Amino acid sequence: MTKGSPSLSHVPQHVAIIMDGNGRWAREQGLSRLAGHQKGSEVARDIIRAAADAGVGYITLFAFSSENWRRDPDEVTGLMALLKHYLETEVETLHQEGVKLRIIGERHLLPNNILALIEDAEAKTRTNKKIELIMALSYGSRAEIVNAAREMAQKVRDRRLEPEDITEEALSAHLYTSDVPDPDLLIRTSGEQRISNYLLWQLAYTEFVFVNKYWPNFTPQDFLEAIEVYHGRERRYGTAA
Ligand code: FPP
Repeated sequence: MTKGSPSLSHVPQHVAIIMDGNGRWAREQGLSRLAGHQKGSEVARDIIRAAADAGVGYITLFAFSSENWRRDPDEVTGLMALLKHYLETEVETLHQEGVKLRIIGERHLLPNNILALIEDAEAKTRTNKKIELIMALSYGSRAEIVNAAREMAQKVRDRRLEPEDITEEALSAHLYTSDVPDPDLLIRTSGEQRISNYLLWQLAYTEFVFVNKYWPNFTPQDFLEAIEVYHGRERRYGTAA
């Protein structure tokens, strides 16, 4: 294990990440925004591996938000091409390394060719156990919660659910993440300190670590240091000190 890395018993079970700062990194390097995203996808690969090696069970990466569709069309097209390339070239390696892949978000908004690659990747890696990689794609947390509310309302109308059965557990069970434990740790890079419509329900008791580095500069050592910070926090889940 890397020097200074935490003991395995204190590794968070689920780490969620907002990979922010690709554009600013690229600008500082005199590169295109897309070059920043390309570098960002390489960093993602290293961090997934570091998380798996550290014993993290679930890692959720915010790869494309619902709001990102409103970016310059060239950037959106470029990001989709990058994602396609990533799925075409990385899935076999992820599979070999025991990674189970799943996508959360508004799938119907994704291009058909990407959707087909995602479905193949999910089917191929379905029984892998080393780590679950959850990619939030075309994802917005408010939309996710609205969908859950709508599904439950439909069930109430069909008499398959009583209003008093609408509990926190029931709502959680209608989210994309129904079978995933809530994140223990959220990391956001780039110095921004917002949650940007990411996992709003699931982050209720999560520890936040904001890292003052752009995502393309984020290293596996930074990841382990964030786990150290998490380890030093006392989680009280709303109880008294
Ligand atoms: C935020 O940086 C990043 C994104 C909107 C996309 C994240 C995508 C990647 C890391 C590449 C794809 C990943 C995989 C795993 C295929 P920003 O563009 O908002 O940066 P800025 O705030 O500096 O402009």
